[in-house]
Amino acid sequence: MSAELISDTSRADIDRWVNKYPAEQKQSAVMAALRIVQDQNGGHLTQELMDAVAGYLQMPAINVYEVATFYSMYEHKPQGKHKLCVCTNISCMLRNSKQVVDHLEDKLGIGFGEITEDGLFSLKEVECLGACVNAPVMQVGEHYHEHLDPEKIDKLLDELRKEG
Ligand code: FES
Repeated sequence: MSAELISDTSRADIDRWVNKYPAEQKQSAVMAALRIVQDQNGGHLTQELMDAVAGYLQMPAINVYEVATFYSMYEHKPQGKHKLCVCTNISCMLRNSKQVVDHLEDKLGIGFGEITEDGLFSLKEVECLGACVNAPVMQVGEHYHEHLDPEKIDKLLDELRKEG
């Protein structure tokens, strides 16, 4: 049964979100549930995990797929350990996000949608991260890195490499 794919820890996390909503609206926890099982799976979703979430929240699988394919934080193929999400939207573009992208591509030897050979980094182009005032911006995990320039990027990559 697909719901068994969800670990006990993930179930406990999902239940915390489910409990924030009225009992008959547990599907409101779908975004949190997808994030939780994605983390459980090392950074990407699978059809089986989406089906498991649908089963766990007692909602049609198609509704889970709609959410999972609409929002850019959900991944459908393996990612690097550190997912570098670079905003190229208007404010970042005007503040030279192209330099950020070029520098990252040059340093990592990958383009958008690719993973470094060591599996450490993947590069993703994203829409506005809501931090335009500090453009250009990149999100790595739960952290925003702002006012980016090549020097800051090099420092960050070194730190992330040390983390492994
Ligand atoms: S345009 Fe990049 S954070 Fe808004």
